[in-house]
Amino acid sequence: MMESFILELREVTKRFGGITAVNRCSLGLTPGKIYGLIGPNGSGKTTLFNCITGLEVRDEGEVHYKGERIDGLKPHQVARRGIGRTFQVIRIFPELTALENLLVVTRLPIDGARRRARELLELVALDRLQNEYAGNLSYGQQKLLEFARVLMTDPELVLLDEPAAGVNRTLLNELLQVIRNLRVQGKTIFIVEHDMKVIMNLSEKVFVLNYGEKIAEGLPEMIQSDERVIEAYFGR
Ligand SMILES: Nc1ncnc2c1ncn2[C@@H]1O[C@H](COP(=O)(O)OP(=O)(O)OP(=O)(O)O)[C@@H](O)[C@H]1O
Ligand SMILES: [Mg+2]
Repeated sequence: MMESFILELREVTKRFGGITAVNRCSLGLTPGKIYGLIGPNGSGKTTLFNCITGLEVRDEGEVHYKGERIDGLKPHQVARRGIGRTFQVIRIFPELTALENLLVVTRLPIDGARRRARELLELVALDRLQNEYAGNLSYGQQKLLEFARVLMTDPELVLLDEPAAGVNRTLLNELLQVIRNLRVQGKTIFIVEHDMKVIMNLSEKVFVLNYGEKIAEGLPEMIQSDERVIEAYFGR
């Protein structure tokens, strides 16, 4: 390998019946950077994340993580190797408290787990709401809770599927800061987001999907003026 990637996709394809949701997609992520994944609705972003995390089994191609193939692994096996993710549609336990939502995903001894969970809740400004049922939190707070939960397992690679959607301005700025801090800690971040300000603000490199195909990759400012990208967004 010429470059050492933490995650590398080689010609990954995923079909649903007649739809090719991801089409021969290849890309590589270098450790310790923030990457963006954009594309119009239905262009295959979430499916690509699902193929990485084992939620969907790719039809063709290979997914390599730290030099080992992980396509074919189950979601919990992928998670255990150090890949964490949040979901576009929130998956929290509404009938558990905010704190309990974090405690259920860790294998740490209870004292350490509580300490870590409280730190993370503080990080996303939910510490005062730790004993509130997650179902009573606002939509934006639930997204932040899910974000805190993914950090409980201390993943090296973090996939975020539209983390900013529905999060208010104040919380959004905190969220961006937390994501930057993760990068400072050496983590690799891969973000799907429709909010271009978030993508342009955070990403060091952006990949663009259209009808499941990667049509461009590069620096955010270059992507913005790429003709194929403009065509994909406005030319339909
Ligand atoms: N489980 C499924 N069964 C059938 N078709 C699916 C399934 N999941 C996704 N698709 C289809 O695959 C394509 C890609 O969907 P996907 O959700 O990955 O897009 P996306 O880029 O995440 O879109 P959005 O920006 O709206 O979240 C779409 O045509 C979608 O309808
Ligand atoms: Mg999606």
